[in-house]
Amino acid sequence: MIAPLPGLRLHPGYFDRAAQEALVEALRAVVAAAPLFTPRMPKTGKPFSVRMTNCGRLGWVSDAAGYRYQTTHPDTGAPWPAIPAALLHAWEALADYPAPPEACLVNVYAPTARMGLHQDRDEEDFEAPILSVSLGDSCVFRFGGTTRGAATRSFRLHSGDALTFGGPARLAFHGVDRILPGTSTLLAQGGRINLTLRRVTKPAPARG
Ligand code: SIN
Ligand code: MN
Repeated sequence: MIAPLPGLRLHPGYFDRAAQEALVEALRAVVAAAPLFTPRMPKTGKPFSVRMTNCGRLGWVSDAAGYRYQTTHPDTGAPWPAIPAALLHAWEALADYPAPPEACLVNVYAPTARMGLHQDRDEEDFEAPILSVSLGDSCVFRFGGTTRGAATRSFRLHSGDALTFGGPARLAFHGVDRILPGTSTLLAQGGRINLTLRRVTKPAPARG
């Protein structure tokens, strides 16, 4: 486990090759039930370069009306499929949080896709960390402070890596500068998949 910044923890190769292949299979079923869609920027309607879907009770969507969580797929209207068990186990092992994740955002990056610097702040609960899992081609991941102007640094994320950001890093700006094509054989078409698990609502207080 590597901690490049307070609250940021990298677990290189957390998922071995067999576990990565099993995750890709599980994601095929997710995408069959909840097809990939192209999110759009609020207001401008400009399309993201990644395609997305979700699993879990809640899914994150973005369109001209804004960013939000919703219980149904924006195109099909169907509830999101369940989060694969292997991801729930990873959350239990790495998140150090007493309640399960409610949302798993699936970002699919073609070789030219990227993700601008942003904060994850559409959740009600910032006590839970973000758990991010990388599959397929490596990427140059950029991570900064909690203000847009703070210094940033970049490091590579590889297939099978798990990353948590919580505590002082929970609201840190982050993004993906670029995909490094040809760095993984996991996905036949190349490209990268990122899975972001999040707790959205505050868990009910424990009784007793
Ligand atoms: C995201 O912040 O939504 C995605 C990050 C990543 O692809 O690693
Ligand atoms: Mn994010």
